Amino acid sequence: MTAYPYEVHDYDVIVVGAGGAGLRATLGMAEQGLRTACVTKVFPTRSHTVAAQGGIAASLANMGPDNWQWHMYDTVKGSDWLGDTDAMEYLAREAPKAVYELEHYGVPFSRTEEGKIYQRPFGGHTTEFGEGPPVQRTCAAADRTGHAILHTLYGQSLKEKAEFYVEYFALDLIITDGACTGVVCWKLDDGTIHVFNAKMVVLATGGYGRAYFSATSAHTCTGDGGGMVARAGLPLQDMEFVQFHPTGIYGSGCLITEGARGEGGYLTNSEGERFMERYAPHYKDLAPRDYVSRCMTMEIREGRGVGPNKDHIHLHLNHLPKESLELRLPGITESARIFAGVDLHKEPIPVLPTVHYNMGGVPTNYWGEVLNPTAENPDAVFPGLMAVGEAGCASVHGANRLGSNSLIDLVVFGRAAAIRAGQVVDKNAPVPATNVAQVEKALDRFDALRNANGSISTADLRLEMQRTMQRDAAVFRTDKTLAEGEVEMTKIAAKMADLKVTDRSLVWNSDLMETLELANLMPNALATIYGAHARTESRGAHAHEDYPARDDANWRKHTLAWVDGNQVTLGYRAVHLDPLTTEADGGISLKKIAPAERKF
Ligand code: FUM
Repeated sequence: MTAYPYEVHDYDVIVVGAGGAGLRATLGMAEQGLRTACVTKVFPTRSHTVAAQGGIAASLANMGPDNWQWHMYDTVKGSDWLGDTDAMEYLAREAPKAVYELEHYGVPFSRTEEGKIYQRPFGGHTTEFGEGPPVQRTCAAADRTGHAILHTLYGQSLKEKAEFYVEYFALDLIITDGACTGVVCWKLDDGTIHVFNAKMVVLATGGYGRAYFSATSAHTCTGDGGGMVARAGLPLQDMEFVQFHPTGIYGSGCLITEGARGEGGYLTNSEGERFMERYAPHYKDLAPRDYVSRCMTMEIREGRGVGPNKDHIHLHLNHLPKESLELRLPGITESARIFAGVDLHKEPIPVLPTVHYNMGGVPTNYWGEVLNPTAENPDAVFPGLMAVGEAGCASVHGANRLGSNSLIDLVVFGRAAAIRAGQVVDKNAPVPATNVAQVEKALDRFDALRNANGSISTADLRLEMQRTMQRDAAVFRTDKTLAEGEVEMTKIAAKMADLKVTDRSLVWNSDLMETLELANLMPNALATIYGAHARTESRGAHAHEDYPARDDANWRKHTLAWVDGNQVTLGYRAVHLDPLTTEADGGISLKKIAPAERKF
């Protein structure tokens, strides 16, 4: 037992994480009069949502015909038929409402001449159930949409008297009699420990892009929610589906929005060919991301990459009018100059597919309630715990997410979690008492890492993990790379027991914080490589060269991964095939969303 004193805080709801999903959940909970606190390891407006550029998908039909059914169809096809049908319907139906709410909260969207919210084309978003031309569905605030949303939601949450605990690092969940009853946190600026007891804990901790060497994700994207969930004995879902964004800046990995292609940008190879026209005659440069990333990789492999090493691709915006770049894409104009030394008015930007998003995460239903699937009940809810945003897996993106469906996921499901909490959290019930044994268990783990005195530094072990994941669980995978990656990652995870932390202090100890983050990244990375090795088919972002076809008969199912130390146990659960509404009641025709070959 360790001797850390701690302060106790009692709330109805604790939200962990203050990105778009965390803030939308916090705001919604507070609006309903639930005593709500948001604990976050970074200042809210510095959460990774701030980096979201191109926009948020919703069928507002401001720029031409559109409707929720077309949006749902594109999401189903984008997911390569692995998404849960009820969740995808909920997303597409609720999206316009959620965006208008954002507008009324004060998000400064770009505007059309008539003053409506401006919408741009994005990859995979079409009309007429994929038969018609691309649709302008992605609502944008120039190319700083996430930034605009975060600032607005933070301001609104403060107005609703939500409380914020900023620069608090969540160490572990408190589990009492099969329910989550709180979370233990370390306050980074003074080293104190805080126990938050709550009737509901909402994980909104984002993705785990930093398990890879090159990612568009912030360095804070370390899968903290997934790590805590794995340690609580709950599974992670569909972790093998890792999205590579086609246009990370070569070298730095910094994001160049898909909105750049939405505004008319295009990709070329070393022969100056607009090669996407060959691979995707209908969608061209606006094919879904998994497909564009594979096409770019094939061009490079076949010797048509650009640059001295023929190892990247060019993105052209230099043909676009200066005014439209200044109005619609000011952020990436700056990023191209800073991170690639390129004046995009004159030259192409060097780009390469870069890890961008995790389709997998903590399994939930479309209300954000965390699932603890059993053989008898694959949809069993784990009481007291929710997960939203990239940390969760509703599963609305299935095997591949469409661009701009992430921001809408954050607000639709952040809002859904708040609505659900309003139904299931009893404001008059007492807050669960502190579970001292669980708090001590969390602090024992914290203390062991703080005093780790082995032989390998956190930075070195993290690099081993990142290089292994980058090499062995890449855009294209094979049995050989995945088997090697599995063995390698199992050994790397075992080295957590041999870590050396050099700073033993409790105040602003970045060595210790990065060690805790590495401990969270590790189960996420293990679940990814084990899940990928087991899945002997290709689907969405999981492109398996030894099994190039999708295999619906055997693999239209969600992977579950329980990670205990460096041991991974896999299981599966069925994809939800039923929509929320029947066709007779105005729902989508099941024929429209029946599995089909994904053609572009
Ligand atoms: O390309 C982008 O602007 C990214 C959007 C997204 O990931 O949804």
